[in-house]
This record gives sequence, C-alpha cells and structure tokens, in this order.
Amino acid sequence: MTRTEPSDRLPGRPEPGDPLQPARPSPDTLELLALRRSAPAASLSEPGPGPDELKDLLRLAFRVPDHRKLGPWRALTITGDARRALGDVFAEARRLADPNAGEAELTLERRRPLRAPVVVAIISSPVHDDPKRTPIWEQELSAGAVCQTLLIAACAMGWAATWITEAPAYDPFVRKALGVQDQEKIAGFIYLGSATEPVQERPRPNSDDKVRPWTGRTD
Ligand SMILES: Cc1cc2nc3c(=O)[nH]c(=O)nc-3n(C[C@H](O)[C@H](O)[C@H](O)COP(=O)(O)O)c2cc1C
Repeated sequence: MTRTEPSDRLPGRPEPGDPLQPARPSPDTLELLALRRSAPAASLSEPGPGPDELKDLLRLAFRVPDHRKLGPWRALTITGDARRALGDVFAEARRLADPNAGEAELTLERRRPLRAPVVVAIISSPVHDDPKRTPIWEQELSAGAVCQTLLIAACAMGWAATWITEAPAYDPFVRKALGVQDQEKIAGFIYLGSATEPVQERPRPNSDDKVRPWTGRTD
C-alpha cells in the first residue's frame, strides 16, 4: 500500500469544545478491524515510522477513553541505537535473573529490540492519589486501550505492528533502566516496522461462545 505523506496524514487536532460527530460511518475502518493482524516481531524490518509519523501515531493512540481525564499512561519511543542499549539492558536483566544463562540466551535478549526499527513502550501510569479515587484497574484498562489503538493506527498508516511483553516487561532491572516507577507497569512493547512476509489469520474465539443475552433474571 502507498503510505500517506506527513502533510495529508491526519485531520487537524480538534480543540476541547469543538463539535465532533458521535458516529462516523467508515467502511475502511470496518474492513481494517475485520482483517487486521499483528505481524511477528521477527518479520518486521526497515523502514519504520519516522519521528513525525510516530508523533501522529501516539497522538491518535492517546485518544482513548480515560475516566476522569487523568491521562494515566505514557510512552517511551526507542529507535536507532537506543534499541541496542535496550538490548544490553535486556541481556543484563537476563543475566541477573538467570546466572546460568549462556551466551546464546544473552544474545537472544540483546537482539529482541533489534527485531523492528521502532519499539514503543506503553507504560501504565495510574494516578494513585486521585482525590476522586478513580479505580487503578480502570486506569490500567485505559493503557491497554492505548496499545490497541496504536496497533490500529499503525495498520491504517501502513505499518505492521505487534504488541508483546515478554519477560523484560516484568523484569525489575528493565523497569529501573526505563525509569518505570513503582506504581507503574509496562503495558506492552509495541514493535513497528515494515512487514517482510504475509500474515495468516489465527484462530479466534467464536463471538457466539462469548456472548449471552442477560435476561434480567438474577437467580
Ligand atoms: C498484553 C499482551 C501481551 C502480549 N505479549 C506477548 C508476548 O510476550 N509474546 C507473544 O508472542 N505474544 C504476545 N502477545 C500476543 C501478540 O500480540 C500476538 O501476536 C497476538 O495474538 C496477535 O493478535 P492479532 O493478530 O489479533 O493482533 C501479547 C498480547 C497482549 C495483549
């Protein structure tokens, strides 16, 4: 597909109070949602989104429902040589967690962030001292919505992407190196780039098995 140029990529940013349409029929969006697939991280290659595109993608990704408008998330963009530095962090984390890890395992860790040209860490950053006590769970759900919206926006902009956590997302050494605070969590690493191979549909739960009408009976 042809990627859109930065100048015509997005409509202008609406200001608070600007009138917007509550429903916006979009067959393209329906098709994207019906057919979108993540790409394996190992299949992502150069090029990836540049700085302006990344900025646009994150602007879109942050347009998610967010109870009490706390903005309980943030992102770290990791590109170029920073991916190498992150790989070193992953390897050191593995060495600390598993002193028996051999060179092959450490190399695998070092290479993880190099699988794609762009890695974005989405960090759930809930507000714990919110006077209105917005539940942390709701704030974390909003961070999940950021991840998924980023996948959708990337796909619509012509980039292949995948959302993964792997062990590093939960590792204390990695968390410290990325400046993740005690109350924060890494919601995911979103790997972005160009797909080198087609993807196939994966098995999906049947929505009929997941949906029941609730009839109002409480017994
Ligand atoms: C929070 C979260 C963490 C994930 N972490 C991993 C992971 O560490 N490794 C992995 O192979 N897939 C992981 N996945 C699944 C990938 O995103 C996977 O490719 C996904 O099933 C693709 O589905 P899609 O094609 O519908 O986007 C994770 C998914 C989520 C939501």
